[in-house]
Amino acid sequence: MTDKTMLKVENLKVIFPNAAGVVRAVEGVDLTVREGECVAIVGESGSGKSVTSLAVMKLLNSPPAVTRVDTLEFDGRDLRQATEKEMLDIRGKEMAMIFQDALTALNPVMTIGHQLDEVFIRHQHMKKKEAKQASILALRLVGVPSPERRYSDFPHELSGGMRQRVLIAMAFACNPKLIIADEPTTALDVTIQAQVLDVLKNMQREHSTSLILITHDLSVVAHMADTVYVMYCGRIVEKAPLKELFHRPLHPYTEGLLAAVPRLSEENHQFIQIPDAVPNPMHKPAGCTFHPRCRYCTQQCRDKMPPLQDMGDGRQVRCWHPLGGPNLTEDALQDGSVGKEAGRYE
Ligand SMILES: Nc1ncnc2c1ncn2[C@@H]1O[C@H](COP(=O)(O)OP(=O)(O)OP(=O)(O)O)[C@@H](O)[C@H]1O
Ligand SMILES: [Mg+2]
Repeated sequence: MTDKTMLKVENLKVIFPNAAGVVRAVEGVDLTVREGECVAIVGESGSGKSVTSLAVMKLLNSPPAVTRVDTLEFDGRDLRQATEKEMLDIRGKEMAMIFQDALTALNPVMTIGHQLDEVFIRHQHMKKKEAKQASILALRLVGVPSPERRYSDFPHELSGGMRQRVLIAMAFACNPKLIIADEPTTALDVTIQAQVLDVLKNMQREHSTSLILITHDLSVVAHMADTVYVMYCGRIVEKAPLKELFHRPLHPYTEGLLAAVPRLSEENHQFIQIPDAVPNPMHKPAGCTFHPRCRYCTQQCRDKMPPLQDMGDGRQVRCWHPLGGPNLTEDALQDGSVGKEAGRYE
């Protein structure tokens, strides 16, 4: 990983107006991804993970989506200004996406070889014969056995794990600078999942690709990520380097997510559930949106949404009472004394 910023998103907002009201899917998300970095976005269903990634690639249909963003910079380029024609060129070549469901992502009536060839022909201007060689090599690199034979298979002739490898091969075909993988292994069983994640990780490391990994599975995060963003109800509630987040979560929601993961090392581990469910996005609670489910909730939490606050060491948290830290008050935020206390969090 280098210090170069590959993707910078500031204050991303996406709403979906409908007859009954407005779904506020993403409410002011900031995201930074460095070259070669794997950034994981975790959160429960409906927290806005997919909408965030689709907005970054400018893939949201408008209408219905209404998107606002202050900064959308990719490799030093302002994507807000990019036309759809320019985006078509950027997508696939400079940024690529791996979706959860390979059967939907792949065209069922074309062989996987043909679909891979098309990426090389379109973006690297190869001739058909050259593209076929490149496709077979790409299949080999992601561990598809007998790639020459598999080249002529249709998607339904491959197992789920193999199809996912094909998607990875397609995403890396043009050596993009950024890949967004949205739940890339959720549809697979656990052993195949681990193999596919290893392929993704090795490809990412070898090519120094920046990766945004979207998942609700913390074991996937632990396996892959350098930095983790925890999303809840359309907002980032915590950001931290991987080890720090697992070692010492600051947000009660992160604490709850971690406590729900089974650990073999703890004999008497009890599942701790986060009570209730994610609120209806059309009727989010006042104050901190997590407060109805939070066991540390106070009146302050019911009244006012806390800001995302810098906690030092690359950490941020959106909570009035971060775990193990001082309670935040608006006065403390305004006079800057919170930042000075960051060192206390050891
Ligand atoms: N096209 C759409 N029209 C209306 N609402 C939408 C649309 N797409 C997404 N939403 C809403 O935006 C919110 C965020 O959705 P999103 O798909 O980003 O969640 P997610 O975090 O990816 O969840 P999951 O883990 O289930 O994939 C949800 O409330 C969803 O219903
Ligand atoms: Mg999603």
